[in-house]
Amino acid sequence: MNGFPALSVENLTRHFGSTRAVDGVTFTVESGRIAGFIGPNGAGKTTTMRILATLEVPTSGEAHICGFSAVDDPERVRQVVGFMPDHFGVYPYVACWEYLDFFARAYGLRGAERRDAVERTLAYTGIDSVADKPTRALSKGMRQRLSLGRALIHDPSVLILDEPAAGLDPRARIELRRLIRDLADQGKAILVSSHILTELSDIVDEVIVIEQGRLVAAGPMADIRQQLDRSCTIELVVAENPEGAVAWLQERLEVRHVERNGMKIQVVCAEAEEEVDEADVLVELVGAGFRVRRFGVRQETLEDLFLELTEGKLQ
Ligand SMILES: Nc1ncnc2c1ncn2[C@@H]1O[C@H](COP(=O)(O)OP(=O)(O)OP(=O)(O)O)[C@@H](O)[C@H]1O
Ligand SMILES: [Mg+2]
Repeated sequence: MNGFPALSVENLTRHFGSTRAVDGVTFTVESGRIAGFIGPNGAGKTTTMRILATLEVPTSGEAHICGFSAVDDPERVRQVVGFMPDHFGVYPYVACWEYLDFFARAYGLRGAERRDAVERTLAYTGIDSVADKPTRALSKGMRQRLSLGRALIHDPSVLILDEPAAGLDPRARIELRRLIRDLADQGKAILVSSHILTELSDIVDEVIVIEQGRLVAAGPMADIRQQLDRSCTIELVVAENPEGAVAWLQERLEVRHVERNGMKIQVVCAEAEEEVDEADVLVELVGAGFRVRRFGVRQETLEDLFLELTEGKLQ
């Protein structure tokens, strides 16, 4: 494109009275990448996204979409950004197609181009079968699809999705993930917030973590994991003597935390200087006479990272 990152915020700050909703946040998202935007309630995610979508102005700092300033050049930004808010707007009595048609007009699409955009969007988001229904008659999942459709109607280069998976059933979530991946594969940059971290971890290329308006971490999950105190979690199930197995593990490894539920044991170990080979641990455990039914090492999930990085302070 024009050499700029698709989306960037620089030292972005937004105060509401004494609340520092966003407090000096800087990050970028490149084309074709999906960035998961996570943080506790009130962390400042929606405020940041609304500024990027030109619906809010920052107290200071900058937000750019495709090199255009969301502050100084909101008209240009609106042409290249699509925003899916965390709640569905008004217009309960218009039909789905009319709703999309209205926004297509607002984006300046005319004639056949507008009809094509509406048809293409209805089909892409899988709501063509309810095109004539009024929006108030839609189920939550259908409404989310329509809301995504609205964000896509003008084929923007950057998509900002505020909790798009909220309230969706498992199948609808899988479908949404597929759509988001597909949109990124088309070259769009996507910033997506969610509290459903298991949902995000499968699709995001990087994560941006904020708390109380401040950036806590940003980058690919693997990089963030590396910056943290390394730990590894071993999960095992024994046939008998779980207390003995825990004692043995504590002797053998640098165990930080143990959780036991009947025969099921989970130990979080500090990663020692020289890496622990789980295969050796299993061989030794069995050699020591423990009857092991199941044994595995669990990678840190996005949820683990979130809990480690944030302190749960609300504002
Ligand atoms: N218009 C407003 N007026 C006053 N305070 C606001 C306004 N909008 C947001 N805030 C405050 O700014 C802070 C950040 O809110 P924001 O909605 O951006 O958080 P969030 O990360 O999206 O939270 P959630 O996960 O609950 O959606 C909160 O303390 C909130 O109360
Ligand atoms: Mg929010």
